[in-house]
Amino acid sequence: MSMSMSSSLFFLFLFAHSAIAAATAPTVQTLTTSPSLFNPKLPPRALSSSKKFEGSSDLVHLRYHMGPVLSSNPINIYLIWYGRWALPQKLLIKDFLLSISTTDLRAAPSPSVAEWWRTVSLYTDQTGANVSRSVVVAGEHADLKYSHGNHLTRLSVQQVIANAVRSAPFPVDHKHGIYLILTSEDVTVQDFCRAVCGFHYFTFPSMVGYTLPYAWIGNSGKQCPEVCAYPFALPAYMGGGGPGALSPPNRDVGVDGMISVIGHELAELASNPLVNAWYAGEDPTAPTEIGDLCEGLYGSGGGGGYIGQVMKDGEGRTFNVNGRKGRKFLVQWLWSPELKACSGPNALD
Ligand SMILES: *[C@@H]1O[C@H](CO)[C@@H](O)[C@H](O)[C@H]1NC(C)=O
Repeated sequence: MSMSMSSSLFFLFLFAHSAIAAATAPTVQTLTTSPSLFNPKLPPRALSSSKKFEGSSDLVHLRYHMGPVLSSNPINIYLIWYGRWALPQKLLIKDFLLSISTTDLRAAPSPSVAEWWRTVSLYTDQTGANVSRSVVVAGEHADLKYSHGNHLTRLSVQQVIANAVRSAPFPVDHKHGIYLILTSEDVTVQDFCRAVCGFHYFTFPSMVGYTLPYAWIGNSGKQCPEVCAYPFALPAYMGGGGPGALSPPNRDVGVDGMISVIGHELAELASNPLVNAWYAGEDPTAPTEIGDLCEGLYGSGGGGGYIGQVMKDGEGRTFNVNGRKGRKFLVQWLWSPELKACSGPNALD
């Protein structure tokens, strides 16, 4: 398919801001145990597929289309930090990625990021190989000088990757590698904040020399946290970042918001890396993937305007999974091929 077709189609769909009920502050059940559970009543993300599919799994025909999944042991993640990133932000994102592996010795208590990834590992290819449960950060490249400027297009994202894989010692790993390009909050990207918060695809040999699965995710902190870091910021018509917004688990609205988008894209990259494996819908140019099906859903009872039941720590910060080194994260649920429903490790039943 043509580049222009493909580039416009594979992304994380956002919700339009229409037809949304008024914001109400989260209701908090005060439990004696810590962390406490609560069920924030946030306004629905209109067009959220989690609403559409919640409790109606008959409507979802997620099918396998014979292509590969990421089954290598481990999956090598290569990070491209585009723009200016603070060290604590990088460590936070890396801790999330490193929390996926079950082999991590500093295992996190349940519900954990590794348990969240278990849903992804239930997807197999035609040889019966599962998506790997082992993920490492195999390399990092800092594009500190904004090699392709402060505004990236879908095409220049591939040029940034091409540029990075030409820089020793950052390698081309076309067997086990996936590439994550993360843009800092001062970088604008084509369709960012309007149509997408992130997307995944694969590079073209004519651009990069190889077919490499990759994803881009932007830090929306300064540009559109109410869109891409929801529910840590709310749109102005709901009172902006006021009392309705949830407190981010690591005190960084932009990066905490990115984590859930990274999780969404990574789950889809793993189960549909060349966009010919697991997706729903008849049109391969507009696949609905395992993250899309559960967007906006973070806990039990979610859907129809609720993100679902999540947890709060002693300082009121919201999360639904534990990671390494005592980290906490809020990640969206994923479509389980076993349950034929959205699922996450913080499910109450
Ligand atoms: C692999 O996937 C199959 C099908 O979903 C599942 O039954 C099995 O438990 C998975 N194996 C591992 C090791 O995750």
